[in-house]
Amino acid sequence: MSRREPLWDQVDAYLTDTFVPRDDVFAAALADSAKAGLPTIQVSPPQGRLLELLARALGAKRILEIGTLGGYSTLWLARGLAPGGRIVTLELDPKHAEVARRNFERAGRADAIELRLGPALETLSRLVAERAGPFDLVFVDADKANLPDYFSWSVKLSRPGTLIVVDNVIREGDVVDAASPDPVIQGVRRMNERIAAEPRVSATTLQTVGGKGYDGLALVLVDR
Ligand code: SAH
Ligand code: DHB
Ligand code: MG
Repeated sequence: MSRREPLWDQVDAYLTDTFVPRDDVFAAALADSAKAGLPTIQVSPPQGRLLELLARALGAKRILEIGTLGGYSTLWLARGLAPGGRIVTLELDPKHAEVARRNFERAGRADAIELRLGPALETLSRLVAERAGPFDLVFVDADKANLPDYFSWSVKLSRPGTLIVVDNVIREGDVVDAASPDPVIQGVRRMNERIAAEPRVSATTLQTVGGKGYDGLALVLVDR
């Protein structure tokens, strides 16, 4: 199968034109990220809008993001953040963090967004030690081999009603290949096994197509 059908891009462009508010802050964030040579793997505009709407629907005042890149998804989450709310976003790469911080400043949201530099697994254990939770919404979008542990830490930082959203969990359908040697696929599959075995959560996954090809989003609701 081709990685991306032209029609998926056309439909994403149509949906973006129709539903996604124009905001110069996002265009500037993407332009600066590209100029700095960051990979263009941020969520698509309709997916960013989904993050905003989920945050608003939850009335989220505390949001945790794992994997900042240039802060594009963070800015969407910030749009959905309740007044007075805060986002903690975790990033390993200092260059990505620098671009993201500039984007937060320009958007006038630097006060609401705390970027923590370093390996997310270390920061997550520190957040638990600091009793930084519970978060109302968690967006998991960093390296995929660590997904099982990112899920477990996210649950630790949750309360009943927290929504955990995980990006890139279909990978062109490769997720069905149990024998895949790809650590990304094994990370997704081992996370899914943990989710399925965790009695405290209810979950589903949506397959998605669009400007980012064929992939998917997992939605995990913490019940208790
Ligand atoms: N959420 C962003 C995209 C994130 S891309 C958006 O949609 O706009 C994944 C990011 O995770 C990259 O910036 C990468 O540097 C970061 N990352 C990779 N491994 C990590 C780790 N171990 N800890 C924290 N961040 C990591
Ligand atoms: C890719 C896409 C993502 O959304 C991500 O977080 C990491 C990698 C990719 O297309 O390779
Ligand atoms: Mg992603």
